[in-house]
Amino acid sequence: MKVKGTNNSLHIGDNTTAQDAYIIAEENHNVEIGKDCMISSDILIRTTDAHSIIDLETGQRKNPARSIHIGHHVWLGMGCVIAPGASIANNCIVATRAVVTKIFDKPHCTVGGVPARVLSENVDWDRKRL
Ligand SMILES: CC(C)(COP(=O)(O)OP(=O)(O)OC[C@H]1O[C@@H](n2cnc3c(N)ncnc32)[C@H](O)[C@@H]1OP(=O)(O)O)[C@@H](O)C(=O)NCCC(=O)NCCS
Repeated sequence: MKVKGTNNSLHIGDNTTAQDAYIIAEENHNVEIGKDCMISSDILIRTTDAHSIIDLETGQRKNPARSIHIGHHVWLGMGCVIAPGASIANNCIVATRAVVTKIFDKPHCTVGGVPARVLSENVDWDRKRL
């Protein structure tokens, strides 16, 4: 796992595992990952786009940094991107190659696609092959 950022916080709960993730917590925004999560390979989690997109009408930056929250017992499938402001409820699954840009506050869902949407509800996951 590679972590980048200064003066921000990254909290990872007990028993969370990761194969290969790049976590960027920058611009005064934080990353919180719950307990017992399973983080697969080629994962990108970032609180900032790193560069500014300017609204020509207001002259303001329209892509500010935002904190990220990942609940307990969340499975991040390989190659997913967790974008600024994303939030994922407890016991969810993020499908491979998903780009999660929003708040998913319902537990026990699978989210996937670009941008991610709910693919299925009322599901759980287990590390074991049952
Ligand atoms: C999430 C995943 C497990 C599929 O879950 P599932 O509950 O079996 O999903 P289903 O096959 O029943 O598909 C449900 C719907 O989601 C769609 N879907 C499945 N995977 C998808 C994906 N990665 N992106 C977008 N849509 C996806 C299906 O096409 C289906 O759509 P439909 O309802 O329109 O027919 C799978 O996509 C995945 O991510 N596998 C990789 C896991 C991984 O990273 N393993 C590495 C070890 S940690």
